[in-house]
Amino acid sequence: MTATLYVPRDSGALSLGAERVARAIAQEAARRKIDVAVVRNGSRGLYWLEPMVEAATARGRVAYGPVRPEAVPALFDAGFVEGHPHPLCLGPTEEIPYLKSQERLTFARVGVVDPISLDDYIAHGGYEGLQRAAAMSAAQIVEEVVESGLRGRGGAGFPCGIKLRTAMLTGSDQKYVVCNADEGDSGTFADRMIMEGDPFVLIEGMTIAAICAGATQGYIYLRSEYPHAARTLAEAIAAARARGYLGANVLATGKHFELEVRVGAGSYICGEETAMLESLEGRRGMVRYKPPVPAISGLFGKPTVINNVLTLASMPIILTQGGAFYKNYGVGRSRGTQPIQLAGNVRRPGLIEKAFGVTLRDIVYEYGGGTASGRPVRAVQVGGPLGAYFPESMLDVALDYEELAARNGLLGHGGVVVFDDTVNMAEMARYAMEFCAQESCGKCTPCRIGSTRGVEVIDRIIARQDQSGNLALLRDLCDTMTNASLCALGGLTPLPVLSALKYFPRDFGLGDDAVSGLH
Ligand SMILES: Cc1cc2nc3c(=O)[nH]c(=O)nc-3n(C[C@H](O)[C@H](O)[C@H](O)COP(=O)(O)O)c2cc1C
Ligand code: SF4
Repeated sequence: MTATLYVPRDSGALSLGAERVARAIAQEAARRKIDVAVVRNGSRGLYWLEPMVEAATARGRVAYGPVRPEAVPALFDAGFVEGHPHPLCLGPTEEIPYLKSQERLTFARVGVVDPISLDDYIAHGGYEGLQRAAAMSAAQIVEEVVESGLRGRGGAGFPCGIKLRTAMLTGSDQKYVVCNADEGDSGTFADRMIMEGDPFVLIEGMTIAAICAGATQGYIYLRSEYPHAARTLAEAIAAARARGYLGANVLATGKHFELEVRVGAGSYICGEETAMLESLEGRRGMVRYKPPVPAISGLFGKPTVINNVLTLASMPIILTQGGAFYKNYGVGRSRGTQPIQLAGNVRRPGLIEKAFGVTLRDIVYEYGGGTASGRPVRAVQVGGPLGAYFPESMLDVALDYEELAARNGLLGHGGVVVFDDTVNMAEMARYAMEFCAQESCGKCTPCRIGSTRGVEVIDRIIARQDQSGNLALLRDLCDTMTNASLCALGGLTPLPVLSALKYFPRDFGLGDDAVSGLH
């Protein structure tokens, strides 16, 4: 009988040696004349345990990790192929507390299935959402998505159903669906994990959006740093096309939908949806004025549904289980689940999908286990480079769009980056301004000029030159950037800057007088 072992082909696992582990397993199995099938799955998202190898046993999958190639002979000696004990054994995969306590809806299949096997996808409930959608009217699909409360997971949190309805109702001879897979936020990797670990869920989500809006062409705008995702997507798209899930007659509905991957050239601003459209049209990524919104006039001036990978990958489960099922998860106006990406100085970095409402403290300590350095947590940045820094004392905040906004923060794409007490927050504030200056598309003055002046002003504060005058200038500058920038790059850069200043004024070399003036 053939034994099945799973070795991830996810980039994170590959960077830790998964390829060599897979090779060592194949060689050792051949040497011992053991019949082993090695499936290259996605990552379960327990990155500190990668490469994590799983054995399929009669009592379910059993995990071992982190596995180095040198450990492979001893694992065979111990009988890991049948799930027997070994010092690297982590027990049944689904029982690992980090995984067991999650609520995986969007990530339900990631790490479980063979990413490029359409049969495996279907065997795990894949394409049920599209089958249901194919039997519904466009208006019914929109209502299901509206009912779910799904909001955009790319950063802005705009209600997904409203965007879909707008594109659906806008008449045109041509419409598009564009998936934003630029994933530029620091510390984020959930889009990549989906594309590498369960690409069909994204393809299915885009197809549902397309048949609803009446789009016949889709593009996945993929960042150039994701070559493994590009390869996996290409294989999955070809498989879907070959079996009639894409192409001239999707699922024999008479609907036409084609899908292509377009690779970006490495620019943070190309993740902003209108700059992304410029890039897709073959121009330099510069932000466009809005209105018109892309759902009315987007790619090549045609109605375009633009959504993040996670948003689109959530559509299949919403269509399969119904909007009410999805809406049952979450709190307030933040419905469903959020794939949270935990990174930085943390013991257990990884992917945690939880219903909205989980606290930052639970994420950092219960899941993350505190800092990797063992030193106290000093600050946590939520939401990528434009997100606020929260001090340890504020970690009880719930991950929820409104709760974070009430504290001058944002959820962004769900990235959480942890820093210990060796961090200098004045340097982080300076870095935020510098990042904005480097990544600015240059179209508007507050961002293009303001960010460069911002670096200079912070430098003067740190050098203790006229601190009160420069503090006033920095606030003024941040005010202008917030209110007069054309897009959120310039508009949100003040969040990390001002949060660092507010919660960590001593790092800027500010004395008691200046600190009391800040509060
Ligand atoms: C500077 C900047 C960078 C952005 N980068 C990304 C990105 O990498 N991925 C993404 O999905 N959205 C990004 N966005 C948000 C997009 O503009 C847009 O809101 C999103 O693609 C819409 O999809 P959603 O509604 O599913 O979130 C960025 C926005 C700004 C202002
Ligand atoms: S805020 Fe910055 S990135 Fe956005 S349009 Fe203005 S210059 Fe371009």
